Amino acid sequence: MTRPATVALIEGDGIGVDVARAAMRAADAALAAAGAPALDVTRIEAGAGCFQRTGQDIEPGGEERAGEADAIFLGAIGLPSVRAPDGTEISPHLRLRDRYGLYAGVRPVRAYPNVPQRLADPRAAGIDLVILRESTEGLFWSAAVHGRSDVRGDEEVRDTLRITRATTEKLHAFAFDLARKRAARGRGGRVTCVDKANVFASMAFFRRIFDEVAAKNADVEAGYNYVDAQALDLVRRPWDFDVLVMENMFGDILSDLAGGLVGGMGMAACAEIGDATGLFQPAHGSAPDIMGQDRANPLAAILSAGLMLDYLAAKRSAPVFTDAAARLDRAIEEGFSANALRPMEFGGDMGTEAVTAAVVARIGGGR
Ligand SMILES: NC(=O)c1ccc[n+]([C@@H]2O[C@H](COP(=O)([O-])OP(=O)(O)OC[C@H]3O[C@@H](n4cnc5c(N)ncnc54)[C@H](O)[C@@H]3O)[C@@H](O)[C@H]2O)c1
Repeated sequence: MTRPATVALIEGDGIGVDVARAAMRAADAALAAAGAPALDVTRIEAGAGCFQRTGQDIEPGGEERAGEADAIFLGAIGLPSVRAPDGTEISPHLRLRDRYGLYAGVRPVRAYPNVPQRLADPRAAGIDLVILRESTEGLFWSAAVHGRSDVRGDEEVRDTLRITRATTEKLHAFAFDLARKRAARGRGGRVTCVDKANVFASMAFFRRIFDEVAAKNADVEAGYNYVDAQALDLVRRPWDFDVLVMENMFGDILSDLAGGLVGGMGMAACAEIGDATGLFQPAHGSAPDIMGQDRANPLAAILSAGLMLDYLAAKRSAPVFTDAAARLDRAIEEGFSANALRPMEFGGDMGTEAVTAAVVARIGGGR
């Protein structure tokens, strides 16, 4: 019998609590249907509510315990009204990203039937790509830790765009592996390096390492696009792309643009993967405007749980987790096709609970 996978669960704040619970329910239903044991979940208190109650943004020992589990799942953290003394919002999850070197930010962008699309071209129904955003360095290197910006009085500020060989080699290798896995599932199989290699030495370096890694992965098609042209192409012909790999700031911007093409925040799943662990979360925040109203779309969180099951399959060499992830994805795909998933976010009549129950029922494995 497969040992249960351990998950450190940070529900967080606002709708984060509801969507995280929905995601765990759906993951367990998929595992049950695949014949795998339920997740062994350890809760960790963190976020704005935790800070208000205790003065700490994460419970004592929480960061260490998060790293001991097979994976970390996070709902959402932060409430605009709760701030640290320096005026910034409560964000212990950024420390987790830094501490565990979660360099590979995976953001799938996929069009589902009956979900609003922003592009009139019928080929938009075929959008199915992944933005792979490096998540520990790039231009965010300056922002990750206080004091890295070079502030010269009130006259000048310099932020640094940092590209290292060690991280970039791992990132590109991750991109080719991901494209290969997607090809095996009949979905794409191409990597595009998105950069600005024509003008920045750091970006020329990023591309040079891409070429080195591409040469070792000659079975996967590789190409380039400058980031400005990529922004245009994401609007003009997003259906032509598969895995897009890029530095942190470019990924930050283009993932929102791409996410906007296929619905909204309630569909935006995210995985952040490092050498030893991975953190999975919906890309959205705590949505204080709709919290406590059963209006949140839990699908971004549920899709993120699917990414977590895929990650656990590889980490644990346990194919039942791949099967569970596929069941979860299929339930959502077929649910939308049958118009049986109608989240309020898209003008439908189904709240958080109803959408979750419909996904679980479609998976068919509720324990
Ligand atoms: N990773 C994270 O935990 C994370 C990410 C972004 C923002 N935040 C925090 O969340 C708080 C609110 O931030 P914000 O308002 O800028 O962003 P947000 O993503 O919480 O909300 C933006 C808009 O999208 C809507 N929305 C978001 N998720 C939705 C869902 N699942 N279903 C339906 N509608 C949804 C909200 O109602 C809101 O109108 C802030 O404190 C911010 O710092 C946290």
